[in-house]
Amino acid sequence: MRDASPPNLHISRHPLVAHKLSILRDVSTEPKKFRELVRELTWLLGYEAMADLAPRAKQVETPLEVTDGAELEPRVGLVPVLRAGLGMVDAMLELVPTAEVWHIGLYRDERTLKPVEYYNKLPDAATVQICLILDPMLATGGSAAATVDILKAWGAVRIKQVSLIAAPEGVATLSGAHPDVDIHVAAIDRALNERGYIVPGLGDAGDRQFGTFAGPGSEPGHGPDPETVEVVRRLQRDLTS
Ligand code: PRP
Ligand code: URA
Repeated sequence: MRDASPPNLHISRHPLVAHKLSILRDVSTEPKKFRELVRELTWLLGYEAMADLAPRAKQVETPLEVTDGAELEPRVGLVPVLRAGLGMVDAMLELVPTAEVWHIGLYRDERTLKPVEYYNKLPDAATVQICLILDPMLATGGSAAATVDILKAWGAVRIKQVSLIAAPEGVATLSGAHPDVDIHVAAIDRALNERGYIVPGLGDAGDRQFGTFAGPGSEPGHGPDPETVEVVRRLQRDLTS
């Protein structure tokens, strides 16, 4: 049985996070407001996700005297997963202005729910000590696990996933494949539906940020593909058996 509540899972308990997430989920929230909320929630989750980064001691001179201070020690890499992760970058750069940003392009095949890589701008060797993967949705966990595979092959040793909403199936997939990766989320939702969408969720995070239409396949009245249904059922069997 796969573990949907592993020790590396951190769910924010902050009331501001719960408040903002409720507005984000609301179907009537327009893209402009949606983008603002993604940014604000990322700021709050990023703050929590970086609580264990060890700072280096540093003396600082105030107008009155020299005192003990601190400086962020590790070099931080932000890894937004295109497209939806793009909306999380600015907030993280506000928190860590010196961070490097490494883009990974993945989309999820609608039928198989498998991630398809289409863009990778990583240099030959890892240039940072900690990588924060930014992607609002952790659904089947396929995209997150593939991103960690890419980062580990690159040489990244310390990796955290920062997402807004996760499904239990996705948490189990990611932590099963990569138990060393901390997962920071605002909420764990009930399950995946037959199309592999998180329910209750918020819909398609990329479409809601960028005002694009998900296509007729996601409209009510169009049944899910049997292959997609089987993929989701398999993930759910793995969780319970
Ligand atoms: C969404 C989301 C994740 C992925 C999660 O991206 O931003 O990357 O799905 O699903 P998974 O956990 O089942 O892999 P999508 O494939 O819709 O691409 P987009 O951001 O370009 O719309
Ligand atoms: N991607 C999304 O944007 N939303 C989901 O619910 C699942 C995958």
